[in-house]
Amino acid sequence: MTEQKATNIVWHPSLVKKEDREKLLGQKGVVIWFTGLSGSGKSTLAHAVEEMLHKMGKLTYVLDGDNIRHGLNKNLGFSPEDREENIRRIGEVAKLFVDAGVITMTAFISPYRKDRDAARALLNEGEFIEVFVKVPLEVAEERDPKGLYKKARAGEIKQFTGIDAPYEEPLNPELLVDTSKLSLEESAQMVVDYLKEKGII
Ligand SMILES: Nc1ncnc2c1ncn2[C@@H]1O[C@H](COP(=O)(O)OP(=O)(O)O)[C@@H](O)[C@H]1O
Ligand SMILES: [Mg+2]
Repeated sequence: MTEQKATNIVWHPSLVKKEDREKLLGQKGVVIWFTGLSGSGKSTLAHAVEEMLHKMGKLTYVLDGDNIRHGLNKNLGFSPEDREENIRRIGEVAKLFVDAGVITMTAFISPYRKDRDAARALLNEGEFIEVFVKVPLEVAEERDPKGLYKKARAGEIKQFTGIDAPYEEPLNPELLVDTSKLSLEESAQMVVDYLKEKGII
């Protein structure tokens, strides 16, 4: 649990509510939380889903790991503590976006189950959609889109998920997308279909 440092703070309620914004936008605010190994397809998939939704007139935003580490989380590394803080902040940012009514997608390895569950716990039932982007490690390593597995195998990167740092698979994700079997188009469609089925769009 992160310590609450400030004491004299009082929540100021909004006059305009999440429901009002959702009505304006014609959608529900949710977070689609993509999790999986590096190279599993989280970013590619999140952006493909975003493009599909945008064409349908839906308001979306992608919070992507490396991009967030350039700014908001530039003071964090890849130690277990920093990974936890990384995901905690993203969970809080995602919560704000969800409250804004936006279909928010996060593309972080988010390797620890308890950190993902903590992000889930910030939101209401149905607002947190965990998507396990599943591929065998061999496939992710074969793809190696950023050349990171090669560096990790060579010992140039330490604490690399799947090599010398753990990845804890989701036990009960809302969706499991096996990108080693499905095309990008099929994978993205699966996510969009889920949103339709749940009345989110
Ligand atoms: N069905 C699919 N969904 C997403 N990516 C796929 C799929 N099939 C193959 N790929 C490829 O896998 C790689 C995934 O890379 P990336 O999206 O950067 O992964 P991550 O963000 O999980 O680290 C890309 O080169 C992408 O073209
Ligand atoms: Mg990525």
